[in-house]
Amino acid sequence: MSEPIKQGAALHSMVEPLLQWYEDNKRSLPWRDDPTPYHVWLSEIMLQQTRIEAVLPYYARFLAACPSVANLATIDDEALMKLWQGLGYYSRARNLKRAAQQIMEKYDGIFPADYNALRALPGVGPYTAGAIASIAFGLPEPAVDGNVLRVVMRLCGDPSDIMAESVKRQITAKLRTIYPKKKEHAAALTQAIMELGQRVCIPNGEPHCESCPLGLLCVARANGLTDSIPYRAPKKPRRVQARTILLPYCADTGADGRQTLRFALRKRPPKGLLSGLWEFPGLDGTLDPAQVCRAAQALCGISEVHSLTTAPTAVHIFTHIEWHMTAYLLHCTPSSDEGGLTWASLSQLRDTYAVPSAFRAYLQYLEQRFPQGDA
Ligand code: ADE
Repeated sequence: MSEPIKQGAALHSMVEPLLQWYEDNKRSLPWRDDPTPYHVWLSEIMLQQTRIEAVLPYYARFLAACPSVANLATIDDEALMKLWQGLGYYSRARNLKRAAQQIMEKYDGIFPADYNALRALPGVGPYTAGAIASIAFGLPEPAVDGNVLRVVMRLCGDPSDIMAESVKRQITAKLRTIYPKKKEHAAALTQAIMELGQRVCIPNGEPHCESCPLGLLCVARANGLTDSIPYRAPKKPRRVQARTILLPYCADTGADGRQTLRFALRKRPPKGLLSGLWEFPGLDGTLDPAQVCRAAQALCGISEVHSLTTAPTAVHIFTHIEWHMTAYLLHCTPSSDEGGLTWASLSQLRDTYAVPSAFRAYLQYLEQRFPQGDA
């Protein structure tokens, strides 16, 4: 069996064939075709945890609303959450705005062409700083994500655990030594490794080794190890949390006699999971209908429950937690002070409030249950 080859030598030998392959195979992507620092930054933040195809419409919509760092620095928080709705990990959006404010204040709105200064911005870790530095500024800085780790570990036949921070740091340092000094090549190399990892050196199942520009150099391929490399130490299982979701609604009759339904939302606390976003009221545990009625009446904003209907169960998976949700639709009378609840019509639920994907099943349920928006 071939030995894991010295990483420096293996990595160095990949540069030329990879740049040539990228030149011949690169896809047109909006942030790639116009790689300003703002575009690269925004795309990299969106692409964390989200596939390219899913990001494309969000990216276009975001840039239409916020074409520059200056616009982002002053965007209204609710509008920002609405632009991000469905992408998840909302702290990414809040950090974007904070970073934009810092770029305006500290750098007069011009991104710093310096890895350490980029790294110091809110929400910018080693990967994103490396991506902006190399792709937008042509600096010799690698950007090491899961795709890049897969390519490098297979190429070198290295079975180390890619979840270990020490391994990521070591690979980043090694890659830095082989980065071309020419700006266009540094920018291309970062994207070439990512692209190879996305399209050729793919995870789970068969990588396309026969069409890989690094096929003849690859130690994992030579030794039949592409299934076991990259190695990931098993993760801790996610914590399962039972939740009971309340879907309280009231019916208002307007001066014209038409009924409008309004649904109760509340804002989540400013810290923790889905912080500051709008949600349907919920409680920990699996409550029975009697407990749900008592809980609804204890909620500020509801004075009376007229009827209760069981809604479908749903599961939402976060990074470390799974919500297993039981839900009830409650026809209510709101209290006169409206307490801690905000009452929104179906069209406002759709267009005004950023209700996170964890509640998507219930937004859909309400749309189906009340197709006209009235009872
Ligand atoms: N995934 C993460 N960053 C990317 C980029 N700049 N281009 C394509 N895919 C990516």
